[in-house]
Amino acid sequence: MGSVKRVLVTGAGGALGRAVVSAFDDKDVVGLDHVQLDVADRDAVLQAVGAVAPDVVVHTGAWTDVDGCESDPDRAFRVNALGTRHVVEGARLTGARVVYVSTDYVFDGLASRPYVEWDVTNPLSVYGRSKLGGEHELHPADTLVRTSWVCGRHGRNFVKTILTRAREGQPLRVVDDQHGCPTFTDDLAAMIRRLAVERRPGVYHVTNQGVTTWFQLAREVVAMAGLDPEQVLPVATAELDPPRPAPRPRFSALDNAALRLGGVALLDDYHVPLERLIKELLA
Ligand SMILES: NC(=O)c1ccc[n+]([C@@H]2O[C@H](COP(=O)([O-])OP(=O)(O)OC[C@H]3O[C@@H](n4cnc5c(N)ncnc54)[C@H](OP(=O)(O)O)[C@@H]3O)[C@@H](O)[C@H]2O)c1
Repeated sequence: MGSVKRVLVTGAGGALGRAVVSAFDDKDVVGLDHVQLDVADRDAVLQAVGAVAPDVVVHTGAWTDVDGCESDPDRAFRVNALGTRHVVEGARLTGARVVYVSTDYVFDGLASRPYVEWDVTNPLSVYGRSKLGGEHELHPADTLVRTSWVCGRHGRNFVKTILTRAREGQPLRVVDDQHGCPTFTDDLAAMIRRLAVERRPGVYHVTNQGVTTWFQLAREVVAMAGLDPEQVLPVATAELDPPRPAPRPRFSALDNAALRLGGVALLDDYHVPLERLIKELLA
């Protein structure tokens, strides 16, 4: 334990990537953003991983535009699946381990209880299929972290969008038939760090605790900001006009079973980091 000296983070300009770089700030951490390292470029990845010579590569870089992926599957697979192959190859050549971040969208959402790490995957969207493709590139010593509904200080996300629109008094119609676990970047990054430092291989579901819908979450955001939650109205996914190109699972809560059964303390209930984030955004 504690043998991690140098860490390379891909997608370091992203919402999670930035939090992961901060979580390792007492170590020798090299964060490369999309411009500095395109994971779809094999030569560039092998060169970068060889030059940095990390013990661990935290691979957060991905094409995360779920609807965009639907209309450009080649790009989705080039970045999310093939890109992960390159990262894993680079890591093998230098003796590093990979921590890959994947998604609840690898599941079809037909379950009636939260998904455990050993449940069968069946993605509905191109994005989900391409991220699952990335999962299949990992080696047994690597770590696969599946997470969901990521929010945080950096980048665009649901909490920020709702807050902005509510403050502008815009009408808000939010889907109330998709269930999942909101997860906050600082908490997730801290657990990624722990899994890396403790050298825990295998699949881990890592989310904040608590299952909700986008509609309920939106109302909580608006209420926590001191605004009127009644301005948020529910809408069914099937009623969205225009419909969104990529199908989403209707229920994609992740049971953090591997952490729970392994005796690792789970992340906080999502209301704790949500309140913290809203205070920060309103300050
Ligand atoms: N957001 C969620 O709700 C969610 C849920 C489950 C899992 N995840 C996973 O969590 C990870 C981090 O996502 P995030 O929420 O932090 O999204 P994000 O803010 O979009 O971060 C992803 C980063 O990857 C970069 N990127 C895109 N194409 C790349 C390429 N070819 N090579 C290198 N970097 C590239 C993006 O840069 P540009 O923006 O400059 O292209 C972006 O900075 C991803 O693996 C994602 O699949 C996210």
